[in-house]
Amino acid sequence: MSHSITTIGVCGGGGTMGAGIAIVAARAGFKTISYDRSPDSLASARKQTSQFFDKSVERGKMKPELRDEALARLTITSDIAELGACDLVIEAVFEELGVKHALLKQLDEVCPDHTIYASNTSTLSITEIASGSKRPHNVVGMHFCLPAQLMKLVEMSAGILTSPETFKTAWALTEQLGQIPVETRDDPGFILNALLVPFNNDAIRAVEAGVAEAGDIDKAIKVGLGYKMGPLELIDLIGLDTQIRLCEAFYGVTLDPRASAPPLLRRMVAAGLTGRKSGRGFFNYGSNAMFGA
Ligand SMILES: NC(=O)c1ccc[n+]([C@@H]2O[C@H](COP(=O)([O-])OP(=O)(O)OC[C@H]3O[C@@H](n4cnc5c(N)ncnc54)[C@H](O)[C@@H]3O)[C@@H](O)[C@H]2O)c1
Repeated sequence: MSHSITTIGVCGGGGTMGAGIAIVAARAGFKTISYDRSPDSLASARKQTSQFFDKSVERGKMKPELRDEALARLTITSDIAELGACDLVIEAVFEELGVKHALLKQLDEVCPDHTIYASNTSTLSITEIASGSKRPHNVVGMHFCLPAQLMKLVEMSAGILTSPETFKTAWALTEQLGQIPVETRDDPGFILNALLVPFNNDAIRAVEAGVAEAGDIDKAIKVGLGYKMGPLELIDLIGLDTQIRLCEAFYGVTLDPRASAPPLLRRMVAAGLTGRKSGRGFFNYGSNAMFGA
């Protein structure tokens, strides 16, 4: 039987994606419980979330009373038992199968039978993730884009054992969140990363080969193809360290040489140039703020 979704949980709520997804859920009117095992990450997410809503008010995109209501709907906790109240939990913990399996095992203990588990994985298989739960029929892929609080796309995929009911409910919920769902097969990288990871690496290799300066490569892509952001600017936003992790996960399942991390990317990360969050990547930034961009 289908349950209506009133309370949404986010796991990894202190992380880059989790913090943004919690904003999306609370902003759309859902009671939202954001859980992370790291209290420090949660404290920083709480601060950045308030700053994001304040900026939305300053820019006239949100009324002050709606900001206050959204913040009041958001609970931030490092106690996983609080997720027992959730009808749907979106996990955005580290991109490691073992970590996701361990989390699902814990969720099976605290969540009721009807709770849907949505994974925000970028590269892992939904079917494999689902095998970590006693309820694989409740597991579905819901891949948000960075920054989740600004980007509308959610790639949705069903694993082999995902029930049609779970997929349908998660799809409807995605629309209620004000997002735009697109269906994709449970395939490495889904649509976006399958195309983007090799493309971004090609841009890094073009810098490495001296084809052009980083700024000119991005300018050519933006002016010539009408993209809002160049690939190197985008990698700075994603984080160069995250790009390496994406490459490693993606290369691991596809063995596509274009998906392997370029040596320049590894050298830059070794030097601490991880992109906007460190103030420098392919470009220099006056501020390292990632939220409210
Ligand atoms: N960064 C991106 O551009 C991006 C985009 C789309 C999807 N994703 C996916 O989202 C997920 C998270 O990525 P991220 O970049 O936000 O990572 P992140 O490292 O910024 O955050 C992960 C968070 O999960 C927490 N965590 C780890 N294990 C946990 C556990 N067992 N229980 C509770 N909390 C736990 C960590 O403390 C951390 O705060 C990954 O699956 C990734 O593939 C990332």
